[in-house]
Amino acid sequence: MSHYYIKSPEDYAAAYQKSTEDPEGFWAEIAEHFQWMKKWDSVLSWDFDGPDVRWFNDAQLNITENCLDRHLEERSDELALIWEPNEPSEDSIQFTYGQLHEEVCRYANVLKKNGVNKGDRVAIYLPMIPDLAIATLACARIGAVHSIVFAGFSAQALADRINDAQASAVLTSDGMYRGNKKLPVKAIVDEALEHCPSVHTVLVSRRTDEEVPMQAERDRFLADELKTVPSSCPAEPMDSEDMLFILYTSGSTGKPKGVVHSCGGYMVYAAFSFQNVFQYAAGDIYWCSADIGWITGHSYILYGPLLNAATTMMFEGVPTYPDAGRFWEICDKYQVNQFYTAPTAIRALMAQGDKHVEKAQLDSLKVIGSVGEPINEEAWQWYHDKVGKGRCPVVDTWWQTETGGIMISGLGPHSPMKASHAGLPLPGIQTILLDQEGREILENEVEGYLCVKFPWPSMLRTTYGDHERCKNTYFSNYPGHYFTGDGAKRDADGLYRIIGRVDDVINVSGHRFGTAEIENALNQDQRVAESAVVGYPHDIKGQGIYAYVILKDPIDAGSAMENSLVESVVRGIGKIARPDKIQFVPGLPKTRSGKIMRRILRKIAEGEASSLGDTSTLLDPGVVEIIKAGAL
Ligand code: WTA
Repeated sequence: MSHYYIKSPEDYAAAYQKSTEDPEGFWAEIAEHFQWMKKWDSVLSWDFDGPDVRWFNDAQLNITENCLDRHLEERSDELALIWEPNEPSEDSIQFTYGQLHEEVCRYANVLKKNGVNKGDRVAIYLPMIPDLAIATLACARIGAVHSIVFAGFSAQALADRINDAQASAVLTSDGMYRGNKKLPVKAIVDEALEHCPSVHTVLVSRRTDEEVPMQAERDRFLADELKTVPSSCPAEPMDSEDMLFILYTSGSTGKPKGVVHSCGGYMVYAAFSFQNVFQYAAGDIYWCSADIGWITGHSYILYGPLLNAATTMMFEGVPTYPDAGRFWEICDKYQVNQFYTAPTAIRALMAQGDKHVEKAQLDSLKVIGSVGEPINEEAWQWYHDKVGKGRCPVVDTWWQTETGGIMISGLGPHSPMKASHAGLPLPGIQTILLDQEGREILENEVEGYLCVKFPWPSMLRTTYGDHERCKNTYFSNYPGHYFTGDGAKRDADGLYRIIGRVDDVINVSGHRFGTAEIENALNQDQRVAESAVVGYPHDIKGQGIYAYVILKDPIDAGSAMENSLVESVVRGIGKIARPDKIQFVPGLPKTRSGKIMRRILRKIAEGEASSLGDTSTLLDPGVVEIIKAGAL
């Protein structure tokens, strides 16, 4: 019997047991499910001190052959991808496996023709149009490393990512639609590229048909290029440990880092986790509402579903356009069977009342999922009752950009389900909780730092260009373990409930930001002496951004200054990181050694200034009273 398909709690127990007793045997069996150009010599070698983790050593494969070619014989005419546009009146676009295969091959040939080679890094800055999916797979087809940058990031943020990866090409569009807005995209790329000497090629997809300036040597319209290339392109043989993609994500310190995923392990785990969490069955229509610019879109719009020959949807628009019923109309229109979204969207729609969701049938749904941040009980219940109509299991999936795939979650209906609890780890995932001293807590009904003590196939391999940083961020706090940065509880039955980040990362509407990153953007304004950013609970976004700012000259304080600081953050990162509250302060609570006491700032931002605890070790306890008095 294969453990690839888990169909009962007993299957889960057996798979989990096998995966811990004989991890290599377990994963070898799962990996047999795929097409390899050459089989592995060894399943796993690892060392968390390096860290140096290798899965399916010396094997060769191409992930697109497994996503596309492998299905052609039997499923060439079945739907691979359904694209739903922003405007409900516009026609949707659908691709069969045969068509998607051809589109990817053509795009891959365009890349080759434009001098993109195996191993080159390619930045993709595209809105949610089919070309985003096609371009991504085209890179993988020829062994170029894709680095997708969410199209809501600013020119500066894009430039930082392009430069860090030394990308040679950028794949983009003229513009984009989002709700009732038409927004520029190419113009942002042009601005970014003023500072990116490594880029020699820009390919531009048409979406809005706006006039866009083109640089003769560098820029090409994709449509023109596609006419000049053949429709078949062999899949490049990749070593299992070759880089598949880089995805930038924020951490506690410094600039966002490029999380690196490799080909073989990522493929195996994205596929296995997709199949089992969503319990996909042939003929089902699966929809994940995330953007492909985030890891959720990589693993669970593109790779996971396509590896399982699923029909996957992508949606260009937003949940509230033309009204708050859009998600539910789409579910009914396509008879969606599995729906996967973020708590922030659920809370935003819940806040609009029940009339929209009650208008929809939603009777095709079988499994509904949540991802990206803790889901509070009220939102969980509403999702379960109103969207899932009390019938559908809610899979609350905990994972990270770094983990590549879902780590803790229910498997469709085959797992215990408890509101706001992610539940049990997937087979192969050895999650543990550590106490303050870094000792593993073996009992249940406890709380601790969430770590993983054994490698899994889709774990990050490094942070691009800086392996030390990978080691320091994830493998040094608790030597011998991967540290997630999250705190979690484990209940009497062993079910995990994620509490949230225990580091200086905040999660705003499911988007990760380092507080230092936002502070850097604020400090770009010459009038700022110093700033400190913390998160605070926000009804819709989960966390809001609260910035404390010391001005060089306090006279500048006021709404004009606030606006210009918000602009600074929008310029440095993007609208998604816009601070919710800015408080001008004369000083910050610091220890005698000059370290900012964020705990105190967090309490004040949370409106719990009465329980600050001991402030006597501060350099200037008086400043706390002033900050408290001015709290927003
Ligand atoms: C948080 C998104 C609670 C967590 C896939 C993690 C969650 C960070 C959940 C990773 C969940 C993600 N419940 N918290 N189901 N899923 N998180 O890299 O803090 O964008 O560390 O990956 O989101 O965010 P990332």
